[in-house]
Amino acid sequence: MKPIKIAGVGYSLPKSVITNEDLTKLYETSDEWIYTRTGIKERRVVSGDETAIDLGFNAAQKAIAKSGLKPEDFDCIICAASVPPQLYPTLGCTLQAKLGIPNNIPAFDLTAACTGLIYALQVARGFIGTGIYKTILIVAADNNSKITDWSDRGTSILFGDGAGAMVVTEAEDGIDDILSIKVSADGSIGHFIYTDMPGQCCPLVQQASKVGDGKIHMNGKEVYKFAVTTVPPYVEECIASSGLSAEQIDYLIPHQANQRIIESIQNRLKYSDDKVISNIKYYGNTSAASIPIALVEGVEQGKIKLDSTAILCGFGAGMTWGAAVVRLRKGIC
Ligand code: COA
Repeated sequence: MKPIKIAGVGYSLPKSVITNEDLTKLYETSDEWIYTRTGIKERRVVSGDETAIDLGFNAAQKAIAKSGLKPEDFDCIICAASVPPQLYPTLGCTLQAKLGIPNNIPAFDLTAACTGLIYALQVARGFIGTGIYKTILIVAADNNSKITDWSDRGTSILFGDGAGAMVVTEAEDGIDDILSIKVSADGSIGHFIYTDMPGQCCPLVQQASKVGDGKIHMNGKEVYKFAVTTVPPYVEECIASSGLSAEQIDYLIPHQANQRIIESIQNRLKYSDDKVISNIKYYGNTSAASIPIALVEGVEQGKIKLDSTAILCGFGAGMTWGAAVVRLRKGIC
């Protein structure tokens, strides 16, 4: 396999902030209830005609600028999108046009919910590793707030909007930035989190179908149990196959779903707080974008020093989950 370089990372967040206090206008809840159970104080949401396309575009522009590459250098685009503004054209195709990336390359969306960034990284690794493509743009962007049931206090407290992007290329210097990576799925527990597409049968058939409401439905308790039992040992397995020990890895950059889930991984790895990147307090769960947002913001805030290593891990609807031990080179964000 050819080695892979993570060449640039970027993120984008919408400006509108919805605090826990704001949510008390929608249903009976409190900042204390939400914060103690999730670690979330506020989240960002798109407003007006703003969509995940705008967020993904901004994040991609930043990641491309950091990579030093030009739009014409890319030979593949993979978007990790579970809640795109349009099912088709895909977010990948739309961003290809908006970014001015030449039209003779493949662009597609991959749906692995909150694990999307790690799934996309694994697919990109396969393409680059086998020499099919050399320079891939990954964009994780979702409009969670548009499919949130804002009357459901079990789900609408959790999600927010945001985008992250990562440029990955063949590593000309032979140094592989992906030390290990694993992705998994268990469709038998898919009912833990689901969104049914709106739509119905042809009116000429005899039996009408149930009409999907297009909203997020979740069994929070089951998802929580799944995450705290599955993810920590999985992360350990991923670390073991990287050839490094947990102590040798500098940072844990987990998917931001629930502070208590993050702490369950932290405790398993026996990491001190300064090794764990958490910004869930301000953004809630931005699905596949949460890892790149946490990474770049961690660097901006001085919590992450580059020229280091990190374990990325995520889980989400599917159920899907994944982890990767990566090298964070200087200058990637
Ligand atoms: N404010 C106040 N009360 C609330 C509430 C809210 N926002 N949401 C639920 N409640 C109430 C429930 O009605 C219930 O009341 P009852 O006992 O009188 O019936 C009680 O609080 C407990 O509800 P429950 O849903 O069992 O809470 P919980 O302890 O499981 O916490 C979550 C709910 C969503 C915070 C938690 O399950 C969770 O974070 N799960 C993981 C979800 C996740 O990470 N999803 C994304 C995956 S990528």
